[in-house]
Amino acid sequence: MLDEFTPRQAAELAGLVADAEHFSTGRSNRESHRRDISCHEGPPPAGIIWPTSTAEVARILAWADAEDCPVTPWGAGTSTEGNPVPVAGGLVLDLTGMNRIIAVRAEDLQADVQPGVFRKELNRQAGQHGLFFPPDPGADATIGGMIANNASGVRTVKYGATKDYVMRLTVVLPGGQVIDTGCRAPKSSSGYDLTRLFVGSEGTIGVVTEATLRLTGLPAHVLATTITFPDLASASRAVALMIGGGLSPAALELLTPGLIELMNREKDLGLPLVPSLFCEFHGISPAHLEETAALAREVCNECGATGFRYATEERERLNLWRARHEAWETIHRAHPGRETLIVDAAVPISRYPEMVLFAREQVEKQDVTGYVFGHAGDGNLHVVLVGDPADANEWGRLEAVNHAVVEAAVQAGGTCTGEHGVGIGKRKFMALEHGAGYDLMRRIKNLVDPKGLMNPGKIF
Ligand code: LAC
Ligand code: ZN
Repeated sequence: MLDEFTPRQAAELAGLVADAEHFSTGRSNRESHRRDISCHEGPPPAGIIWPTSTAEVARILAWADAEDCPVTPWGAGTSTEGNPVPVAGGLVLDLTGMNRIIAVRAEDLQADVQPGVFRKELNRQAGQHGLFFPPDPGADATIGGMIANNASGVRTVKYGATKDYVMRLTVVLPGGQVIDTGCRAPKSSSGYDLTRLFVGSEGTIGVVTEATLRLTGLPAHVLATTITFPDLASASRAVALMIGGGLSPAALELLTPGLIELMNREKDLGLPLVPSLFCEFHGISPAHLEETAALAREVCNECGATGFRYATEERERLNLWRARHEAWETIHRAHPGRETLIVDAAVPISRYPEMVLFAREQVEKQDVTGYVFGHAGDGNLHVVLVGDPADANEWGRLEAVNHAVVEAAVQAGGTCTGEHGVGIGKRKFMALEHGAGYDLMRRIKNLVDPKGLMNPGKIF
């Protein structure tokens, strides 16, 4: 634990960055870097530093190594498992100052970016070339944060997760050595895949200071539908059939009446209060989309769908997705002063229906407030559980729901975290999910960061 910097340390840190203003021990800066959007909170870090180049990050990590100073990298702070929350004091390395889109190389379908670039800004610039960076966690996360957590979201069912878009990285290792991983060729089989070792490593073995990302063409035609079902079982069965039937939706989201009610109230959507799927298809022509939608409709009807509605107006489609993206915020606004715990389990698609029903049973059994939804097409289930962490009994029941769902998901061949990363919240499930593989992760961590200074208390 490093609570405070000595005057000598503070002076040295201010000297490591081009502008002394890029280092602060000010109270408000320390307070604003204590928590992400989850309920995990650490003690105030000793200071914040805002580097602007790889060379500065290298100097900072060399200094931290010599001083045994914990370093916690920080992006937009939109993570949900305490991933960037400093728990051992020391230095928060705020990368939002490294926010340059170095180049959009449209002819290669690639972009070179610094880690503090916001996802939406990258997509604005890529969009001018008819391209986009598909992983979409909803929040306007930084690219560095998305790489650290291997973020994904509503588009992953068709386009994949962040890991599928990272081609090359510049990484500063603990101690300050700079390495490059990967390359800009569309494929490579040259040895260990170090790029993927860093994707999802949550800043525990180094700091990404530059990335080459793969981009893809914006869809020519888009069609969105909302599909209603008499019950949760039939809705989730339709998901497995649509995916199994090769319909390749660009989004396939499950929503349940409790959440739909909150969304209706906030956004005046007028959606029926029944289990529903939000679905989007991307295609090369309107005819192609119509054909796909007709097949989807057939599958849903076989599962007992009661309504199949096209969001033909662009405004209606964007409203639906905005409401979906804001689901977490909407739940928070409906429960002022309460905190949330988010279940983020994922399973093979054939096991999704039973997982959804099991999750709802657990919410009922523990008699807690919980909203079941998810990126159904990925077999990814969310339950946003609402409660008061100070009420040990209630919070214990939320934790029990999370535990039961995660255990069932792992048993079904799935994972404790589909897209939110491990952070603080999911550490307790890592041995269960990975067994001896978790020990290998720890050995890699110890090899690269023998002093345990990088984002301490996360993943392990
Ligand atoms: C979502 C976040 C919680 O899907 O992952 O809304
Ligand atoms: Zn999600």
